[in-house]
Amino acid sequence: MTQEISIQLTTEPRTRPDSEKLGFGKYFTDHMFMMDYTLEQGWHNPRIVPYAPLQMDPASMVFHYGQAVFEGLKAYQTSTGELLLFRPDKNMKRLNRSNERLGIPEVSGDFVIEAIRTLINIDRAWVPTAPGTSLYIRPFIIATEACLGVRESHTYQLIVILSPVGAYYSGGLAPVKINVESSYTRAVQGGIGHAKAAGNYAASIKAQSNAKKGGYSQVLWLDALEKKYIEEVGSMNIFFKIGGKVITPAINGSILEGVTRASVLELLGSWNIPVEERKISIEEIFEANAKGELEEVFGTGTAAVISPVGELYWNDRQVLINNGQIGPYSQKLYDTLTGIQTGRLPDPLKWTMPV
Ligand code: COI
Repeated sequence: MTQEISIQLTTEPRTRPDSEKLGFGKYFTDHMFMMDYTLEQGWHNPRIVPYAPLQMDPASMVFHYGQAVFEGLKAYQTSTGELLLFRPDKNMKRLNRSNERLGIPEVSGDFVIEAIRTLINIDRAWVPTAPGTSLYIRPFIIATEACLGVRESHTYQLIVILSPVGAYYSGGLAPVKINVESSYTRAVQGGIGHAKAAGNYAASIKAQSNAKKGGYSQVLWLDALEKKYIEEVGSMNIFFKIGGKVITPAINGSILEGVTRASVLELLGSWNIPVEERKISIEEIFEANAKGELEEVFGTGTAAVISPVGELYWNDRQVLINNGQIGPYSQKLYDTLTGIQTGRLPDPLKWTMPV
């Protein structure tokens, strides 16, 4: 697809927020990208327009049956003022895998990356520069056909919005307290857990809010069938360092294939650290802790990059990891990833792409 992107600039630019106030996903830039899909025309009418509410038919299928997928990636400003995207090709491949699972038509990843670059260049002044800040990019696709029949929609909209963000957790890179979720399930094999589908996040909210009420930051998700094997932590992938080895649950159909997860695996491999992608049970974690072998636990995701886990609770049992401090691997991975993302460190594997 090589269509021309039409551009309509805002006549009412808004005040940009102070970088200390950013938080995560609270502010949006002056423009957004949109593109429509119909059976007759395929993806068409790519355009950049002023950021504004959408006008939608209340019967739009997305409101009723949740046919919606999204992505999340970031642009970082380097010390020389250049803007870098981190592995956008991986997000686009995953977007199309999500599309495939949800019955949404494929999009050209290269074209969406081009649209994102054009949009960011227009809203360049919104990219925050303070340490730890970035521009979060949220592409999403929604089913727009007005119809209450349960089937795939015949029309869609792809939209990209941009949000200047600070740290995902207000406490910064600080170890969090996690509760193992024993009642609710995030995703099942054969379901949509491996897709970045809006519904997965809806399914997680009740457990997350219960965890918050109990004084935890997030939940640790177990598999749906046996409530035995570890899947994810909150909306992130999870890693354990046990007896010098790093272990993460293998991709199994219900776990999201995180871009940060893949990058962490590649970095650890390049540092010759033994890594295992396999099934790992919650019992194994508590046993490793009892033997004094549980060294570090951390989540990985685009939003927080690395999120160390300081305490883990499972029914009446508790483990304190690395004395509640950030472990050396978590710190080194965070420093290396953010170093590459912001151009502070060399990028030998060509993970970044200039905007
Ligand atoms: C991420 O870690 O990037 C996520 O998936 C969280 C996002 C849904 C806000």
